[in-house]
Amino acid sequence: MSLACIILAAGQGTRMCSDLPKVMHSVAGWPMVKHVVSICESLAADQIIPVIAPDMIDVREAVRPYACVVQATPNGTGDAVKAARKSLQEFSGNIVVLFGDTPLLTTQALQQLIDRQKETGAAIVVGGFVPSDAGAYGRLIVRADGQLDAIIEAADASPEQKAIKLCNGGIMLFQSDKLWPMLDQLRNDNAKGEFYLTDCVEMAAKAGHKVAVTEMPVDDVMGINTRAHLAKAEKIMQDRLRQRHMLAGITMTDPDTVFLSVDTIIGKDVTIGPNVIFGAGVVIDSNVVIHPFCHLEKVSVGKGAVVGPFARLRPGSTIGEGAHIGNFVEIKKSAIAAGSKINHLSYIGDATVGEKTNIGAGTITCNYDGFNKSLTQIGAAVFVGSNTSLVAPVRIGDGALIAAGSTITRDVPENALAIARERQRIVEGKAKTFRSFQEQIKKAKEHT
Ligand code: UD1
Ligand code: CA
Repeated sequence: MSLACIILAAGQGTRMCSDLPKVMHSVAGWPMVKHVVSICESLAADQIIPVIAPDMIDVREAVRPYACVVQATPNGTGDAVKAARKSLQEFSGNIVVLFGDTPLLTTQALQQLIDRQKETGAAIVVGGFVPSDAGAYGRLIVRADGQLDAIIEAADASPEQKAIKLCNGGIMLFQSDKLWPMLDQLRNDNAKGEFYLTDCVEMAAKAGHKVAVTEMPVDDVMGINTRAHLAKAEKIMQDRLRQRHMLAGITMTDPDTVFLSVDTIIGKDVTIGPNVIFGAGVVIDSNVVIHPFCHLEKVSVGKGAVVGPFARLRPGSTIGEGAHIGNFVEIKKSAIAAGSKINHLSYIGDATVGEKTNIGAGTITCNYDGFNKSLTQIGAAVFVGSNTSLVAPVRIGDGALIAAGSTITRDVPENALAIARERQRIVEGKAKTFRSFQEQIKKAKEHT
């Protein structure tokens, strides 16, 4: 059976109190809507159609390569689905309607909905759930035989209906041939004056169609309406990600303090200390050790490398096999080749570092002149002495030796020694005369 997914994301989400559309707020490094798209992809949906409001340019970007359709005015979930009709004219099969604000949805939950349709042959299958507080959720009116009669929105529910615990999780499956005629019959004579997609249930039941319900895990269908919900979703997602990585052979000393992104890739036998944060786009090869308090984003780290404690790896960097990046070292947009060591208090930005090079403590690449960023190219087996400034653009040839405290402004040839600092002077006995001079001044002052 073919599968099409319509992702509703046209609501502004006023309860977030934000200029950003609700579905653009991120959970584990991805905007919420991208999580929903990726779940649809995991079931190889034939079509994925996000529905957005006219001005949601960033949502369009976030759901690429899928083309969005626009709901001109937010007239309700039923009206939003209508916006996708044109794109699905040729489509026949299961249409699943999901919400862009449910980032914790899982492949299993979506599969459960499809399986239920297969078992029952129902025209509609609703993903139900039993939240701890039914609050504003739609209530499911289920008959003794399990058939669903109606969904009553909280705002329209009687006190008896409000007491019902089984609620609408917001994910619904429709057989395509039944869906479109029903949408045309929706009316907006309800508390919110909106066209509710949920009214299709009563319509289908009255027309004698089968409507089934399947209960889903509470977390999976959790809808994000406020920043407090967002924080709760982040916590649940982080726990899921930590579990997944630990089951795949990663050691975390204190998993509760490790923050991952959905797209974090970590190889086997990696050890991660406490308080490590993975932004989006990080790939860690096997046998890497990441010591406590590191921050990584859009970087790859090669086999057996050692990072931290207190290292910051910024976007566009690659750390080679067996390299060491130590404490208080910041690496930005740089390629550090295998076996190189940058162990203490350094900034390496817009640079390449060859194999087995040693960068001394306090080395700085001066990559920015206030207008332009320039490159620093450091060869293989180079030794850069401590407290060196490398003023880019500059090249250091293989095997070169840079004396500590140098400010390097010109290229250094292969195997050359570069010293760029004031020559040291020794003035014999000068310390002693300086001190006795100071003592005399002090005494003179005391006598006056
Ligand atoms: C909806 C359901 C409710 C269910 C709950 C689950 C309806 C009428 N109600 O209520 O039964 O228990 O979700 O979380 O469906 N949207 C549009 N265009 C619109 C209106 C909404 O695209 O005109 C999108 C929103 O961006 C959002 C989703 O649809 O992603 C749900 O809208 P929302 O207003 O949050 O619905 P609820 O009141 O939570
Ligand atoms: Ca909602």
